[in-house]
Amino acid sequence: MKKRLFALIMASMMVMGAMTGCGGSTDAPAPTPTEGEETQGDAEQGGTDVDMSNVEIGVCIYKFDDTFMTGVRNNMEAQANSLGAGIELVDSQNKQATQNDQVDTFITKGMTALAVNPVDRTAAGPLVEKASAAGLPIVFLNREPEPDVMQSYDKVWYVGAKAEESGTMSGEIIADYWNANKETADKNGDGKLQYIMVTGEPGHQDATLRTEYSVKALQDAGIEVEEIGNDTAMWDKVKATELMNAFITSQGIDSIEAVLCNNDDMALGVIESLKANGYNTGDASKFVPVVGVDATAPALEAMSNGSLLGTVLNDAENQGIATTNIAAMAAAGQEITADTVGYEITDGKYVWVPYVKITAENYKDFQ
Ligand code: GAL
Ligand code: CA
Repeated sequence: MKKRLFALIMASMMVMGAMTGCGGSTDAPAPTPTEGEETQGDAEQGGTDVDMSNVEIGVCIYKFDDTFMTGVRNNMEAQANSLGAGIELVDSQNKQATQNDQVDTFITKGMTALAVNPVDRTAAGPLVEKASAAGLPIVFLNREPEPDVMQSYDKVWYVGAKAEESGTMSGEIIADYWNANKETADKNGDGKLQYIMVTGEPGHQDATLRTEYSVKALQDAGIEVEEIGNDTAMWDKVKATELMNAFITSQGIDSIEAVLCNNDDMALGVIESLKANGYNTGDASKFVPVVGVDATAPALEAMSNGSLLGTVLNDAENQGIATTNIAAMAAAGQEITADTVGYEITDGKYVWVPYVKITAENYKDFQ
């Protein structure tokens, strides 16, 4: 079966360019051609018919039970269907050994491309060796392999986002709140911002860099900060509620002037705990500003009811589409360029999907 890829590719480029935010990060459909497409007529002459009949993409996701990655995998599946490419997605259940076996099985079954969201990003090397021995393209996503692993084979790519950006944006959201609410935000009146940091999985680039850059953004805004709590909740909502309960017990709720979370599930978990203590339910005198990252549907809902101050769009839609396009095009023997996959390729191997700051002013555009 032959499929025209061009319209879809142009559609994704338009989304990249405009970043108008349609779709959000959960289960939005792949972008479809719009009126604007007409203007792409010239470029369309350069479009290619690519035969996708032999494309079978084997996809391993570190674990299915992850809100953001569920958005990514739904978009991958939708995009493969639009391209007319085969796709099979498996749950690595947070075990690297399981994932290694799944990759072996995909190769044995004759899949023609691999897309892997590693359980342990430092364990990507052996997966590249497997792909290379079988001559298959391999696209990593969301968990970035070490640079030497990325360079060890010509058919390896990475699709992700610059975690620093999301850290900076989430820090800026808290900084803006602090500056706009000088009287009430500094609860103990000491001129410093006492905050709690709730981090994702240790070793994950997003956890490390979001933590570092969110604090840096506060300091760059001239705010004196004091960390009064910092622990991991492993990207998980329930764990974050437990953690926040413990912080409230040990610190006292009124000593907490902000909570920075590495993702939305944890921010929502923190909010559960605050609500159980009578906070963030609408009474302005009982409010702790909380930020997350991802812009999941429940997070946007929490913004609409005022319990979550802000978040950062981690663009599941474009990350999913870019990963699928690269895997499909490479399997179909095409060169990987911005023209063939619809996304700018940095250093021949990386696609960086931009983050978007989500505040009270723009969240409705992403719902
Ligand atoms: C991050 C995302 C988290 C979690 C993690 C999984 O980019 O913000 O919510 O999905 O990836 O690796
Ligand atoms: Ca203070």
